Amino acid sequence: MGKLFIEGGKPLAGKIEISGAKNSAVALIPAALLADGPVVIENLPRIQDVEIYTDILREMGADLLLEDDWIEIDGRSLRPMTMPNGRVKKLRASYYLWGALLGKYGEVSVGLPGGCDLGPRPVDLHIKGFQALGARVENKNGVMSMKAERLRGARIYLDLVSVGATINIMLAAARAEGVTVIENAAREPEIVDVATLLNNMGANIKGAGTDVIRIEGTDHLRGCRHTIIPDRIEAGSYMILAAAARADVTIENVIPKHLESVSAKLREIGVVVSEEDDSIRVIGQDHYRPVDVKTAPYPGFPTDLQQPMTTLLTQVDGPSIITDNIYGSRFRHVDELRRMGAVIKVEGRSAVIEGGSRLFGTRVVASDLRAGIALVIAGLISHGVTEIDGVHHIERGYANLVGKLQSLGATVWKESMEPENIMRGELTDGT
Ligand code: EPZ
Repeated sequence: MGKLFIEGGKPLAGKIEISGAKNSAVALIPAALLADGPVVIENLPRIQDVEIYTDILREMGADLLLEDDWIEIDGRSLRPMTMPNGRVKKLRASYYLWGALLGKYGEVSVGLPGGCDLGPRPVDLHIKGFQALGARVENKNGVMSMKAERLRGARIYLDLVSVGATINIMLAAARAEGVTVIENAAREPEIVDVATLLNNMGANIKGAGTDVIRIEGTDHLRGCRHTIIPDRIEAGSYMILAAAARADVTIENVIPKHLESVSAKLREIGVVVSEEDDSIRVIGQDHYRPVDVKTAPYPGFPTDLQQPMTTLLTQVDGPSIITDNIYGSRFRHVDELRRMGAVIKVEGRSAVIEGGSRLFGTRVVASDLRAGIALVIAGLISHGVTEIDGVHHIERGYANLVGKLQSLGATVWKESMEPENIMRGELTDGT
């Protein structure tokens, strides 16, 4: 499955170009199926989740043209078919096929999703939304079968703020008869991105980005062209990396407003963060203050950055607390960071992180993509060489990871390619 090697302690500096948002791309690709014509999606991140999704759509008969950073999707040749678990289990966002195909055909049979192991990841809110729109939903041995004579608009209150359920209901409601109102909707920028695509296709969606979204269903959606917003989580990861490595890094092709909670928290720690129209410059400092971090739905501090932030907090002057209010057990990176010398104690939804840790390179395992990037950052600031197993998890969400790190001056390589100028130090066994 591939390993990543990092020789820590190298001075880092330079610029990073952020790719299109993963969590938009995995919703926009199925959303394109709703159009009665070709949809071109630009600024496409070349990550494994996108590759897996395009394979699924090809298997279903969609006409696809995939170039280096854009894709053209024509759903007219799609054959509605049962998609058993298999490939759909490889990513969490395969559940968007439910909303897209239910909206397009009035029926769908697709296996339950897979994705990161962050603890239980129910889909009850998605199902509640589809049932409210008139679909009958059955779980047949892990394949969700849904059917509606005619989808009808409804008022749906989401018990929990859910990105996936908000987007999925929007996809099905776009082709329903009448008006759907989603209350307590998630407000993430990726939701706005999907609503923008659907409106460009001729849908009538208002309020995306607020907690009340109104969708007036329409019979016909046309092909169009759409550019994906920058990936705020990739950008935030590199901001935290720059702070941890005490580096001067400019993160380019970002929307600073999408990163307000991250910039604010880094400034609270003592990092120098300055914003331009479409870039953010992060200048690391020698001393940082300990802080409390609490994750929350957007625009709060994103749960997807609590893991890389944990690595940074091992370097501040004193103990910090990070609490994940979204996922109760998103701490599998902690054991691995401990093996590198971090002193962290997990108590329920919180981790107490001792500051001033001297980290050292050893063998660690990435359990999910954000745990993986936390270990990458730890490897960059450790003494010695770190070997990270499970790099495929990281590459699900970080396009051209090795290239981007090397452009900052990092000594990093994957198992199959070893730089000439490296004397590979002995890997400590981390005991
Ligand atoms: C999206 O996951 C993102 N994934 C996640 O990013 C992100 O961490 C998450 O939103 C929260 O912001 C994609 O967009 C593909 P949710 P999603 O529905 O939609 C509970 C990454 O690293 N819930 O917003 O699956 C759920 O258990 C990934 O890029 C229900 O109880 O998350 C969680 O506690 C990881 N029932 C909370 O709501 C449901 O039906 C928020 O989940 C749905 C969700």
